[in-house]
Amino acid sequence: MAKKRSLFECQACGHKSGKWMGRCPNCGAWESFLELSDEQKKVLDKIDKAPTSAALPITEIGEERVERIPTGSAELDLVLGGGLVSGSLVLVGGSPGVGKSTLLLKVCANLAKSGKKVLYVSAEESAGQIKIRANRIEANHPNLFLLNELVLENILAHLQKEHYDLLVIDSIQTIYSEEIPSAPGTVSQVKAVTFELMRTAKSMMLPIFIIGHITKEGSIAGPRVLEHMVDTVLYFEGDSSNELRLLRGFKNRFGSISEVGIFEMTSKGLMSAKNIARKFFDRKRSQTGSAATVVMEGSRPLILEVQALVAESGYPSPKRSTTGYDASRLTMLLALLEKKLDLPFNQYDVFVNIAGGIKITETAADLAVVAAILSSFRNRPLSEETIFLGEVGLTGEIKEVMMQDLRLKEAASQGFSKAVVPAKPLQETPIKTFVVDSVEKIIDWM
Ligand code: TYD
Ligand code: MG
Repeated sequence: MAKKRSLFECQACGHKSGKWMGRCPNCGAWESFLELSDEQKKVLDKIDKAPTSAALPITEIGEERVERIPTGSAELDLVLGGGLVSGSLVLVGGSPGVGKSTLLLKVCANLAKSGKKVLYVSAEESAGQIKIRANRIEANHPNLFLLNELVLENILAHLQKEHYDLLVIDSIQTIYSEEIPSAPGTVSQVKAVTFELMRTAKSMMLPIFIIGHITKEGSIAGPRVLEHMVDTVLYFEGDSSNELRLLRGFKNRFGSISEVGIFEMTSKGLMSAKNIARKFFDRKRSQTGSAATVVMEGSRPLILEVQALVAESGYPSPKRSTTGYDASRLTMLLALLEKKLDLPFNQYDVFVNIAGGIKITETAADLAVVAAILSSFRNRPLSEETIFLGEVGLTGEIKEVMMQDLRLKEAASQGFSKAVVPAKPLQETPIKTFVVDSVEKIIDWM
């Protein structure tokens, strides 16, 4: 008789294995494997097997018409690719407190005001708590309905009875299906609930937002395990010490992911950040270890401050730590500076931070990172009027970054008067440019 196969699932990332493992080979989490019951295996089978239908020649298939609904938030529309697509399932992830509920409640109110009927399901906060928020952000409208419900089947039953034009689920980690025996927030639960919501979105042509908390590795499944199941994935970035929030697209079946929404958390909720230029950069005077650069967020240039701290290390292997900047890039830059400029960074701890809680995803800030590190190391401030733009290569060569002219224009409009760049600008600019094409030469300039 064939022995029933057991199946184990990592509760951090959803990786499956035929045997229990102490450490997940996929995500590295410890003791994260749970054995799945027969019911859970059945559900997974259902999810993995897509519904079958007849194949058609591609010539006979009509183009899908994509209807877009404006959300009333220009920044969100931008990230969605021009509005919310009907029948789409959008995952909005972010750390607790970043503003997910605030943004989506406002979007619900915007749609309600435009005559749509909207359902906001909260499994996290009571209706009374949401009401307080609604008062604060002016989201009261008779077309906006609140439902306090934890059970997926009840939500679906509700949708059968009443027609809605938009559904928000807050949050995916707290809703559960009664058909699945495991606890809310586990991988099996969030996957099964998301799968049902996807089916509902498509069959009813109902756009659905699901909110997901990004949590530290642990027993609660993060939104990452859902990324492949939904149409669109948006993540909120920003720290609580700063009022700015970026909404970045990670996946979008209906648009590009190059645009970024920029919001400001105010006393009346999240607003489109109108004058974003100086928000991420409010350095009043020059300081050691601080250098300014311009990064592109989607099509928009943004001035950011790179901060570095270089301090003598008391450890045999010195510390390197970054926030908002790639850690392995920092290691590379330090190795390069050690080799090319003969600086003893192996005896120094180095910390790099991008002010404002922003994550830099492009290499254009490399030169500013180098400048900030050298400034801290030599204990000499850089001129506060100078902007640094350039990618640093492994050979120590500094390479031009795309859209240099646009970035310089933005820097000029923000009052910067000097720029250290690897190539002369093509267009005329009021900024005085200094061409530095290798890291060896930067020290001459500083
Ligand atoms: P919230 O939307 O509840 O975050 P999430 O759903 O992502 O966990 O936002 C919570 C934070 O936002 C909280 O710290 C208070 C702040 N906030 C404001 O500053 N202004 C506002 O109008 C609202 C509603 C919240
Ligand atoms: Mg919330």
